Amino acid sequence: MHINFSDQVAVITGGSKGIGLATAKQFVQSGAKVVICSRSQNNLDNAVNEIELSQNVLAIQCDIGISSDVDNLFEKTLATFGKIDILINNAAPTSWGPLINEVDEAAWLEAVNAKFIGYIRCTKLAVEDMLLRKSGRIINIVGMGGRGPNKRYLTGGPINAAVLSLTKSLANNYGPDGILIAALSPGPIDTGHHENILNWMAQESGISFSKAMENFINGIPLRRYGNPDEVANAIAFLASDKSSYITGSEILVDGGRFRSL
Ligand SMILES: NC(=O)c1ccc[n+]([C@@H]2O[C@H](COP(=O)([O-])OP(=O)(O)OC[C@H]3O[C@@H](n4cnc5c(N)ncnc54)[C@H](OP(=O)(O)O)[C@@H]3O)[C@@H](O)[C@H]2O)c1
Repeated sequence: MHINFSDQVAVITGGSKGIGLATAKQFVQSGAKVVICSRSQNNLDNAVNEIELSQNVLAIQCDIGISSDVDNLFEKTLATFGKIDILINNAAPTSWGPLINEVDEAAWLEAVNAKFIGYIRCTKLAVEDMLLRKSGRIINIVGMGGRGPNKRYLTGGPINAAVLSLTKSLANNYGPDGILIAALSPGPIDTGHHENILNWMAQESGISFSKAMENFINGIPLRRYGNPDEVANAIAFLASDKSSYITGSEILVDGGRFRSL
């Protein structure tokens, strides 16, 4: 299947690392003009160095938890490329570990502000432009913790569930306007966070790190972590004209790990 993003402009939040960076590389290769953002200028500089055809990439420092940063991100995108066809809401902090008595109110508010309100901030501004052409794609990167709660993914799980609900209601709202909105939930993807998770699992079960890793891998039907490119492939499909009758849905890219219907 050939995906062609020529003449398309995509904003990818958290595009300096992991899944966002893999997606940015793939979109640029398919002809898109791509805007990436993240909080660290250093991470952005490294990312631009890694992307071929970097003349088609605009990197903007932006914390999606700060309204004025997000306003600046979209103003600069429109000033440079003139429109927004695709938004990939992907930027999020990792939040594995603390239990309910270890998460204070400030931490809850910070977590909700970053992923949930952050996705809403970006969506509002992207939709404003997409409505002008009655066309657009928004992909919300979620995570299995939304459907499969875990006591140690306390802030992340409920926020993911909220993003799924948001995806469905926005898809209903904007379908008649030609704006298609979908969710994609990665399973365990090798972007460097799993060491922390496996450490917790080892500690909790009183086993070694390598045994925790073995147990974890054995719980994945495909018996391995996914890589960011495998998620980027599915994001590209959802953002392309090949998915023209898909909106409000969630696609799992998890090696079969999530066992429920
Ligand atoms: N990897 C997995 O196994 C997995 C599983 C389920 C769901 N997910 C979801 O997939 C998405 C990407 O995860 P990943 O593993 O690729 O993460 P990652 O490798 O840590 O990359 C996260 C990216 O987001 C940026 N970022 C973080 N907070 C930000 C903020 N407030 N504003 C702007 N940029 C911000 C980071 O750059 P800076 O640090 O420079 O800001 C970085 O570019 C997230 O939504 C995550 O919840 C991942």
